[in-house]
Amino acid sequence: MTINKLLEDRLKNAMGLNLRALGTSTLKNAVSRRMRCLRIEDRESYYNLVICKRSEINELIDEIAINETWFFRDNGPFAALQKYAGNWLKSGVGSSLRLLSIPCSTGEEPYSMAISLLEAGIPASLFAIDAIDISNRALAHAKRGIFDKQSFRGRNRIFQNQYFKKHKAGHIISEKIKNSVRFFRGNLLDMRLFVTGAQYDIIFCRNLLIYFDDHNQKRAIANLDELLTADGVIFTGHAEPGIFAGSGFIPSSFPMAFALTRKSAAASNNQPDSGLRAAAGRFTIPAEEETLAFKSLDFAAIQSMAEAEHYEEAIAMAEKYCKDNAPSPHIFFLMARIFVEMANLRQAAKMLKKALYLDPNFLEAIKLLVVIYKRQGDETNSLAFELRSQRVEMRLTAEKSC
Ligand SMILES: C[S@@+](CC[C@H](N)C(=O)[O-])C[C@H]1O[C@@H](n2cnc3c(N)ncnc32)[C@H](O)[C@@H]1O
Repeated sequence: MTINKLLEDRLKNAMGLNLRALGTSTLKNAVSRRMRCLRIEDRESYYNLVICKRSEINELIDEIAINETWFFRDNGPFAALQKYAGNWLKSGVGSSLRLLSIPCSTGEEPYSMAISLLEAGIPASLFAIDAIDISNRALAHAKRGIFDKQSFRGRNRIFQNQYFKKHKAGHIISEKIKNSVRFFRGNLLDMRLFVTGAQYDIIFCRNLLIYFDDHNQKRAIANLDELLTADGVIFTGHAEPGIFAGSGFIPSSFPMAFALTRKSAAASNNQPDSGLRAAAGRFTIPAEEETLAFKSLDFAAIQSMAEAEHYEEAIAMAEKYCKDNAPSPHIFFLMARIFVEMANLRQAAKMLKKALYLDPNFLEAIKLLVVIYKRQGDETNSLAFELRSQRVEMRLTAEKSC
């Protein structure tokens, strides 16, 4: 066995990531960085160090970990959390609400949870947030609480003035928010996570399961199952609800969020396709995406027709629209959304590919394809588009910050 394969296996055992899915150069580059740092010249010596010195595998984990995250990432889950917490408060439950963010990366996710709860009128004394990640480096960043512009994306900046102070290295989070989150190092695949018997009403487990292979996904879900209260809710990343298929969890009905509950807890409220519908979004187009084409009466008419659930008519109008106007990625995206509603995923995927042909960076189209492939059990394409969405997201962020 080559040294690279040995290192790959060692790392997979330690953190569960399917390194092949991340690309062959990821591990190679991470090892090279560590070797340069330690002034080690050959890979075999480095491998021996990894075997002998426990802390070195943690250093390698820090190099490999994809810490990409930002405040209020995807918005939907945080709105859903507010709704859940509001209902919970109204129901007059005696104990406090327990929440977990795993993996929490550099802290933006659990801090966003805390801000959401406070904004929903839940006093800090009534909730407790634990945050866990395998990367020491990410946790150190989270605890420092200083964030640069990469952590603040999208439109939701109002909270920035209220909960942060300017700092020479960016923005520093207020003590109140900082003190409402407890950070721990932990591995989602490790059973020691639940030996204390602690259980959570809400778990955010987003953008990690997608990197695990089937076996480790099952292990992770079994651990999440142990960590969740009987009627608790798990929020996942947009490409991840399908991973829970057959595990006793089913999609929950929060709009614009990918949430799961136990089948038993959700028996009265079962909406199997809510995850996919949330990925497809509503038929209306967000204001910032408006272009002249969007303002065309025809386009609006197609949207209205779809909103009225006259899907066949909406598709016929859209086809005519395509004949009469220059093709636009947005009309194909709208058609894909309509096909999702019609449960015709094959046609939806076809339309999304047309949209991507015209605009290869059309992030919503890529993300919806991820979910569709996942639903169809096509892991390879789902992962390929998930990685593409991350590349596009990074590129767009880099372009914005230039
Ligand atoms: C892309 S971030 C996701 C952060 C956040 N949940 C979000 O969606 O914005 C992935 C994180 O998973 C962590 N990670 C990787 N393997 C892990 C494991 N086995 N257990 C816990 N955390 C892990 C990495 O260190 C990294 O910080």
